[in-house]
Amino acid sequence: MKIRLLEGDITQVSTDAIVNAANSSLLGGGGVDGAIHRTGGPTILEECRKIGGCPTGEAVITNAGDLQAKKVIHTVGPIWRGGASNEAEKLTCCYLNSLKLAEENGLKTIAFPNISTGIYGFPKEKAAHIAITTVKSFVSEIIEEVVFVCFDRENYQLYQVNLHS
Ligand code: APR
Repeated sequence: MKIRLLEGDITQVSTDAIVNAANSSLLGGGGVDGAIHRTGGPTILEECRKIGGCPTGEAVITNAGDLQAKKVIHTVGPIWRGGASNEAEKLTCCYLNSLKLAEENGLKTIAFPNISTGIYGFPKEKAAHIAITTVKSFVSEIIEEVVFVCFDRENYQLYQVNLHS
């Protein structure tokens, strides 16, 4: 499984799946959630409404509307509360459950944003380490490439350092 690093907007990435950093209502929001719904259009929200919600750490899959991707995997990251509320375990589950869902749907390439590191306030260094170690330890016969898409320069530099350490 190849790992690639990109700096930019995940809504412009043409992997089979792109992962959304959603909230548990699945009804949209700001950040990457807002960008995906804005660019993907209303059919994504329609499907999210039918699903009805998603607990922290879990992932659900919908169509991708007008996005180049085939599917959107919505996962709900933990809100950072200081590190003593299993935030690290929950963030690990976001990556694992998203990868499993991509595999179950036969999706060969998947792009992740830096889940929980924006509005949810997860420290970027810790989140980068969790994301990279979780993806690196995931063995798959189906998934061929994982792309980390960093929207901000700080995350991009953290991933550059962590990916090559
Ligand atoms: N493409 C890629 N990454 C993006 C984009 C984009 N278009 N827009 C923002 N990001 C990055 C942010 O820079 C941050 O590094 O996504 C990362 C996650 O930030 P948020 O989108 O704020 O997500 P998160 O911290 O997980 O908070 C989730 O925010 O938008 C709401 O509904 C969402 O309530 C939920 C909460």
